[in-house]
Amino acid sequence: MTRIATAPNDRGTTSGNAVEVRGIVKHYGETKALDGVDLTVREGTVLALLGPNGAGKTTLVRVLSTLIKPDAGTAYVGGYDVLRQPKQLRRTIGLTGQYASVDELLSGYENLYLIGRLLDLPRREARARAAELLERFSLTEAAKRTAKTYSGGMRRRLDLAASMMGRPRVLYLDEPTTGLDPRTRNEVWDEVQRMVAEGSTVLLTTQYMEEAEQLANELTVIDRGRVIANGAVSELKAKVGGQTLQVRPAHPAELPEMARCLHESGVLNATVSTDTGLLAVPITGEEQLTAVIGVLGTRGFAIAGIDTKVPSLDEVFLAITGKPASAAVPAPSLAKEPVA
Ligand SMILES: Nc1ncnc2c1ncn2[C@@H]1O[C@H](COP(=O)(O)OP(=O)(O)OP(=O)(O)O)[C@@H](O)[C@H]1O
Ligand SMILES: [Mg+2]
Repeated sequence: MTRIATAPNDRGTTSGNAVEVRGIVKHYGETKALDGVDLTVREGTVLALLGPNGAGKTTLVRVLSTLIKPDAGTAYVGGYDVLRQPKQLRRTIGLTGQYASVDELLSGYENLYLIGRLLDLPRREARARAAELLERFSLTEAAKRTAKTYSGGMRRRLDLAASMMGRPRVLYLDEPTTGLDPRTRNEVWDEVQRMVAEGSTVLLTTQYMEEAEQLANELTVIDRGRVIANGAVSELKAKVGGQTLQVRPAHPAELPEMARCLHESGVLNATVSTDTGLLAVPITGEEQLTAVIGVLGTRGFAIAGIDTKVPSLDEVFLAITGKPASAAVPAPSLAKEPVA
């Protein structure tokens, strides 16, 4: 993707961009965790950084949080240079790391209050903001318990609340919903949307295309430290394909006949898999859904289940590169099972 470069303003970034990353390289010994990453997050938007395990997502978040120094390249956040203005930069950002970092010996409320005070909020404001965020993340009841008694999902929510205490201009969320149940995941999504509505910019790393679709305006896909695709979520969706309708017939033997009937009726892109026992149709519009269900119904096929599905990370990679995600492919195994 080509982006138009304009002159940097007096704080070093192009106006309108909250995050600007150019040519960032980071090695860990022999591993090239980041191999010349370029990325831009426009002010007030959400960028999803999508990639498999080991792609370099957390490494980039750490560079942009001034926790580690890049070997090459430039990065500006809120107009501040990660290398030359780390203090100012840190005051601009909120970070929820991939692993929860709450203080186990303090209660949920104390964790948030302390962070508020560290951010120089007056006592009253720190108390009010802590109570507000505990409420939003359904932690009010547990507010007085020490965080060591919290479940994994509760810790994650507390961690997210902590990163929002100071109403940061730029918020980094590193896989914020991995391991959360669907209800909690929706709460997190709501909160992220609220932060954006209140004016924050969000850089979100994720392994879920669905999350990117829900939250992000733009999507950057990385693999082995390199950007392999970049653009508006809608553009990438058009490339990857949006939702797929999946139909499970009551009698799997009827799958080929179902596909044939659909084809006859003008639905040309239906595929069947005897392995999964599913008929799949990429949905190009509402009329497509109605047409498929209509045809199958009138022809009297017995249907055991219907579902819609967004592409998985692997399907996204397949559509973009023609190959599955490198890190997601199991390496040829040299190790043998121990002989009992
Ligand atoms: N502190 C470190 N020391 C050595 N290698 C590291 C270190 N941190 C990351 N790496 C390596 O850098 C690469 C990128 O790792 P990174 O944690 O950024 O990936 P990620 O995209 O966040 O993956 P995940 O989805 O598993 O969180 C990996 O090969 C990883 O093993
Ligand atoms: Mg990571």
